[in-house]
Amino acid sequence: MSQRENFGSRFAVIMAMAGSAIGLGNIWRFPYLVGQNGGAAFIIIYLIACFLLVLPIFMAESIIGRRTRLSTFGAMKKLAPGTPWKWLGLLTVLTPFLILGYYSVVGGWAVDYLWKACTLRLTQDTAGLFPGFISSVWEPLVTFTIFIVATAVVILLGVKNGIEKFTKVCMPALFVLIVGIVIFSLTLPGSSEGVRYLVKPDFSKIDAGVVASAMGQAFFSLSLGMGTILTYASYAPENENMLASGIGTTVADLSFALLAGFAIMPAVFSAGIQPGQGPGLVFDTLPYIFSQMPQWVGATLAIVFFLTILMAALTSSISLLEVAVAYLKEERGMGRVQGTVLVTIVGWVLGVFCSLSFGPLSGVKLFGLSIFDSLDRLCSDWLLPLGGLLFTLFVGWYMSREDVRDEFTSGGTRNTRIFGLVYFLMRYLAPLGILVVFITNLFL
Ligand code: PHE
Repeated sequence: MSQRENFGSRFAVIMAMAGSAIGLGNIWRFPYLVGQNGGAAFIIIYLIACFLLVLPIFMAESIIGRRTRLSTFGAMKKLAPGTPWKWLGLLTVLTPFLILGYYSVVGGWAVDYLWKACTLRLTQDTAGLFPGFISSVWEPLVTFTIFIVATAVVILLGVKNGIEKFTKVCMPALFVLIVGIVIFSLTLPGSSEGVRYLVKPDFSKIDAGVVASAMGQAFFSLSLGMGTILTYASYAPENENMLASGIGTTVADLSFALLAGFAIMPAVFSAGIQPGQGPGLVFDTLPYIFSQMPQWVGATLAIVFFLTILMAALTSSISLLEVAVAYLKEERGMGRVQGTVLVTIVGWVLGVFCSLSFGPLSGVKLFGLSIFDSLDRLCSDWLLPLGGLLFTLFVGWYMSREDVRDEFTSGGTRNTRIFGLVYFLMRYLAPLGILVVFITNLFL
């Protein structure tokens, strides 16, 4: 068993968890899902999903991780030896591979746009730039490879020192930047249309699919359902208040997603771009904003912005890789180098298909979706909620109430009054809610 380090402080725990949570899910995925699923109504469902379904699962994962001080597979073996719960351990090893594949493709887009920003190509006429880029073969493949190799290098160098130091600086900077972009975006002509879209709900747009997407996005954005939070919680100091770090991470993640919405949507409307166009939304819109500014301002902001997106993406992709590598190290006896190389190669092969699915492989459809979209939907709408459902059933029904209470209240020293409510959410509401969404989505 490997020697486990601890994070140095609560601030470090929250920053590392927020580092994993805040990423492309907030800046790239959230705005385009809002655009595809009816704006404000989607946001309301998303907020409900975050607090009622997903925060209890955050607690469930934290409790397992802190109780066992192991990553998922080992934790299941320790708490439920000889039972089928080990399959949950395996599910959470499979999911990060799949996500890493397509996540790194979008990370590669950010690398590419950073390069374009540095060479002043984002401050000229940017019409048609993005579709041309992703449908080509080599450029996205090269930048995707750069991104996945960079992720692997950080893991090889030792994550925690890197992540802890890096996220403490990067996360606050990210907030300052996005607020700046929101302010600029709101001053663009026609931007009020975008604001209205974000605050005026049209509930006629809501159906089972929209609810499933909102729930899936909540899991994806908070890095839940595949053991990331569990693993990070296993590094938390003994006296850490898990409820506080859970709420802290959720609020930081939510605020960032909403800010990203207010940065992107007003500009989308101002530029006359279709809000429902899908995964390219941010990459089409941001360059438009930058090209509207005086060149040096636009260029500087574009560089800083894509650099920051890239950093946010890296702190998340690192956490994806770490879960799978930790499993290979602990359970399969592999060295860190061997494990990292293996996961990276598998992720890379998957990613190649995802990247090409915007160009030469665009005709290949799985369940009517492109390879990229079907992997994304499979993971966030099904595998992550399934993992989350099993985690919460495990804590709510398999573990004893005393153990759960002991861990949640740090031995009865804090959060004792709220325990009953959280336990109820973990035991009944969250699992039932997820099941209902699953069933309606399957049959409607
Ligand atoms: N939460 C990350 C994001 O929003 C993605 C992620 C999902 C990371 C699952 C780890 C685990 O970008």
